[in-house]
Amino acid sequence: MYKDLIDKLEKDTFLTFEEYLELIKNREEIRVYAAERACAVREKYYGNKIFIRGLIELSNYCKNDCYYCGIRRSNSNCERYRLTSDDILSCADDGYSLGFRTFVLQGGEDAYYTDEILCGVISEIKKKHPDCAVTLSLGERSYDSYRALKEAGADRYLLRHETCNKAHYKKLHPKEMSFDARIECLENLKSLGYQVGAGFMVGSPFQTDEDLAGELLFLKELNPQMVGIGPFISHIDTPFAKYSDGTAELTAFLISLIRLTLPRVLLPATTALGTVDPYGRETGILSGANVLMPNLSPSSVRKKYMLYDNKICTGEEAAQCIGCLAERVKKTGCEIVNDRGDYNYDI
Ligand code: 5AD
Ligand code: FES
Repeated sequence: MYKDLIDKLEKDTFLTFEEYLELIKNREEIRVYAAERACAVREKYYGNKIFIRGLIELSNYCKNDCYYCGIRRSNSNCERYRLTSDDILSCADDGYSLGFRTFVLQGGEDAYYTDEILCGVISEIKKKHPDCAVTLSLGERSYDSYRALKEAGADRYLLRHETCNKAHYKKLHPKEMSFDARIECLENLKSLGYQVGAGFMVGSPFQTDEDLAGELLFLKELNPQMVGIGPFISHIDTPFAKYSDGTAELTAFLISLIRLTLPRVLLPATTALGTVDPYGRETGILSGANVLMPNLSPSSVRKKYMLYDNKICTGEEAAQCIGCLAERVKKTGCEIVNDRGDYNYDI
């Protein structure tokens, strides 16, 4: 019965709200089959390849005050840092030597990084490493800014929508932030020709199964090239300190549903998933994920980019993480590859 719904989803690549909800409510019974079909679909478009993205966390200053996030501006316990253009370029060079061909520049919304500074860094990376993709994850900026960054050479942009439910969005963010502004940014990025990544947290405070069913309909409609999801994990210095964490099981099941809904999507097994469960990233891969995003930030700043408590891999060097991940991935039957790993429009 639930098996029929998974088969229908695989065949049609969408379900109704009620059907998604039925699966989510009965996930315990159907998750193994869902993961099996999701892996078969991933295999069809990407083989057993796992793509790696080198994450460079360039700043933990942020003008926003999201209730869930450890680097929110009101967190006075957060020790702030900024990487210089030279720091960023040297992370990218190190990453290149380790085999990375995509660099993700991620940070809080920090006005220090003007278009001029960012365009300079992006064009330098592209000049030095023309075979690499540059992905940005720098939050909400103006259309003109997104255009300038694209013209400087940025290829992709990650901007999680965090939740598809407007009322829920309000419960996660202070009033100066809006769901509509977020969606407008995603639309602007799409129209500028970026490969776009959306995403949400699993098990964030006040989230319901209905919200999650809504996420699948929302993603189907948006049709992004990338989707990043991970469990919500409480951070002690935020208003959500006392809320419980999302689970690896539910995150893994949603990874499977997303793979079946957007068969070609680039889907990371996130660090947050690896934080709530020591085998979270392996489970993510075995549920249909095909991307890993190891940290390339200098070890001196790693511990300062704490979006949530107990984040893993903050003590390791990038080379250690990549070695560790290569071993872990092998055990799943997949294999880390060094190409840019673009979205597969071809087959
Ligand atoms: N737990 C899990 N994920 C979080 N993020 C921010 N704070 C948390 C948290 N406490 C996620 C958000 C953001 C991404 C960079 O990290 O979804 O978009
Ligand atoms: Fe960082 Fe294993 S991935 S130590």
